[in-house]
Amino acid sequence: MRDAAPQTIYLKDYTPFPWQIEWVKLTFKLAPTGTRVLSEIRFAPNPDADGGEFFLHGEQLALTSSTIDGIAVSPTLTDEGLTCDVPDGAFTWTAEVEIAPEKNTALEGLYMSNGMYCTQCEAEGFRKITYYPDRPDVMAPFTVRIEGNAPVLLSNGNPTGQGDGWAEWHDPWPKPAYLFALVAGDLTAVTDSFTTASGMSVTLNIWVRHGDQGKCDYAMDALKRSMRWDEKVYGREYDLDVFNIVAVDDFNMGAMENKGLNIFNSKYVLASPKTATDRDYEFIEAIIAHEYFHNWTGNRITCRDWFQLCLKEGLTVYRDQQFSGDMRSHAVKRIDDVVMLRARQFREDAGPLAHPVRPSSYIEINNFYTATVYEKGAEVIGMLRTLVGAEGYKTALDLYFERHDGDAATIEDFRKCFEDACDIDLTQFALWWHDPGTPRVTVTEAWADGTLSLHLKQSTQAAGRDDYNPRIIPLVTALIAPDGSEAMEQVVVKLTEAEHTVRFPMLTERPIVSINRGFSAPVIIERDSSTEERAFLLAHDTDPFNRWEAGRALAKDVLTRMVTDGDQPGPAYLNALDQMARDDRLDPSFRALALGLPSDDDMAQTLADSGITPDPTRIYTARLSLRKKVAEHLEPALAELYTAMDRPGPYTPDAKAAGCRALRLKALGYLSLLDGGKRAQKQFDTADNMTEQLSALACLIDIGTADEALAAFARQWSSDRLVMDKWFALQVAGATPADAATIAKSLTEHPDFDWKNPNRFRSVIGALTTNAAGFHDPSGASYSLIIDWLITLDALNHQTTARMTTAFETWRRYDADRQGLIRENLERLAAKSDLSRDVTEMVSRILGT
Ligand code: TRP
Ligand code: ZN
Repeated sequence: MRDAAPQTIYLKDYTPFPWQIEWVKLTFKLAPTGTRVLSEIRFAPNPDADGGEFFLHGEQLALTSSTIDGIAVSPTLTDEGLTCDVPDGAFTWTAEVEIAPEKNTALEGLYMSNGMYCTQCEAEGFRKITYYPDRPDVMAPFTVRIEGNAPVLLSNGNPTGQGDGWAEWHDPWPKPAYLFALVAGDLTAVTDSFTTASGMSVTLNIWVRHGDQGKCDYAMDALKRSMRWDEKVYGREYDLDVFNIVAVDDFNMGAMENKGLNIFNSKYVLASPKTATDRDYEFIEAIIAHEYFHNWTGNRITCRDWFQLCLKEGLTVYRDQQFSGDMRSHAVKRIDDVVMLRARQFREDAGPLAHPVRPSSYIEINNFYTATVYEKGAEVIGMLRTLVGAEGYKTALDLYFERHDGDAATIEDFRKCFEDACDIDLTQFALWWHDPGTPRVTVTEAWADGTLSLHLKQSTQAAGRDDYNPRIIPLVTALIAPDGSEAMEQVVVKLTEAEHTVRFPMLTERPIVSINRGFSAPVIIERDSSTEERAFLLAHDTDPFNRWEAGRALAKDVLTRMVTDGDQPGPAYLNALDQMARDDRLDPSFRALALGLPSDDDMAQTLADSGITPDPTRIYTARLSLRKKVAEHLEPALAELYTAMDRPGPYTPDAKAAGCRALRLKALGYLSLLDGGKRAQKQFDTADNMTEQLSALACLIDIGTADEALAAFARQWSSDRLVMDKWFALQVAGATPADAATIAKSLTEHPDFDWKNPNRFRSVIGALTTNAAGFHDPSGASYSLIIDWLITLDALNHQTTARMTTAFETWRRYDADRQGLIRENLERLAAKSDLSRDVTEMVSRILGT
């Protein structure tokens, strides 16, 4: 390990920076191994601060000169930055540093990707570009001059001049350094324009490598729809003359909201029917929207410090979810989001990495870009909206934008806007931001004299916490009469105490309860419910989320019994599924979701949650055998769907067509278990789009007859990086448990494998960590292979390595043998010399040391 005791940062220690910055001028003289960065910064004392030393962050910089008011100074340098004596009052600081973007494989700061220069500064990458107070509450207008021989030179804001080998940009909106961006390379733009509601014309550019121009239409369309939507729904307009998006191949995450110059992982920009799947299109739409929406929730109003990360991320995720729902289907979007929330956030909350939506301490902030901050952060906003209503939500958000435009704000500021606008006290609600853990609500029913009583009891017992304070939990609830009609209008039950009984009187017949509709609260509902009741809700619930949830619960019951008692699925479940598959009144995309089974990891979590030690091998076997049973029982319906859902005309990526395809391909997945891959092979041979080609390939891998198809696919797509990522990932994801490690290992030896490209190594290593039975193969082969890889990778890219350690966050779920193997391997990683701070923090949190 690098540091015996890495430094912990606490929220309670916040103090403002002693200076403000009036303006910043930067000049970049680009060269791959010797880029020179000249900075000129006007500092003035911060009237809101009590003074303090002049400390500028700076890491891995070679300082060649520095001056204050034109006079050379000799600052004191450390690994983290510099300090310097400065005059009282305002002064101008200059510095010149040298950096080597070509050697930067961490992909933060200024780096090179395929010959192109680009930056990633969030959270703390700007300090690798020059000396600066690299904290989000220090905001300034930036003027940037770029000198270099690339044909395209971009930075934030509006262009103010350009000539041979140089360009200048000015961003009038004061911003923190984490939103700085620069791009330089041989790029080409797809250009369009947008007129804002108040009549301002904005040039829209999507910058890509030559040859990729034909793959930008969908992203451009999504951008224009996002801009219009934010005007209509939130009253937010864009505020510069240009909006630039750049697609970059080497990128640590999905995309970044730099002011006026969003930088994207090319995976979330480039799409054509032949190369992108329906799922890819969906993600492109959502991520384009997410980054665009940050212009207001993130950039115009930013975070005071990194503890407030959910202020921008939770809110912006909530906004992009609303947008996707409006563009497609709210029901399907909600189900997708909840599947993801449970798979990533509930899992995180139940293990050693659990933390509040707003943490109160951290060692490495990059480790806190988590499902809890993002996805649970969004759930918290959704609950607020349920509590205050759509009107109240709008009034509160308007107040937030009005009161805090231009600010670096806190969660308390945000909360105050709701309290003031809606006249409520959110003291108890705020526990959702401050306390970790997934609340568990136990529901019991009593029926007497026409009154149904629901007894509700809350705790976080599941996560093993005894410091639980009761929260306010909004549960959208309805009662359904035995004939399938609604026995009363849906209500929001607000649970505020540890225990509470709600009564629904004057009922003629005992109804079936549909609780937590639309997943109105991110909690685990625990409730004794019969198979009949679940089958009834699957057939009759008018809330599509709960309808799906009932089917999911049935599947989990069946799988649990198959794993623990070796039972076979009974007719109740199979018949309910068959009926649902045949129900043409239901949206095809909904039916596709309802036909899906819980994932292996979902089952492991479910079993662990009810006190059973999950055995991933048994889960795998049980799930496979359930899939076969479903296939056999539903064969006529599935075969009919496979034909009926074929598209009438050419491929289009819209939600309706994608929904039919999803159902058709779900049917194919089952049918392939019966027809020896006949349909899949034919589909593979004739597909004219990636959705159909790839799903057919997945089916062939699934039944072990994909050798030729895999070779053909590789020949066809060898020059398309994004498609080849799919080829790598699919082989690992579809490998049998015993083969997974071997296949993954051989793929890292493939000539196209690249340790420096995050998309590529996520396709292999990431895929192995999500192949649950392969990852947890009792031999331990995957554990040691992955740890070997993480050791190699940490030296190149600490941020992504740290993220991948989360594969082990569930280790305490498993049996003693597996725990022993995992511990041994994690300790081997921890013992590595020069381990990054990121990985050091993660491993010690996971091990609990
Ligand atoms: N702020 C970005 C978003 O949510 C994500 C982000 C944070 C990021 N840190 C990053 C992206 C590092 C790339 C690299 O949209
Ligand atoms: Zn974001």
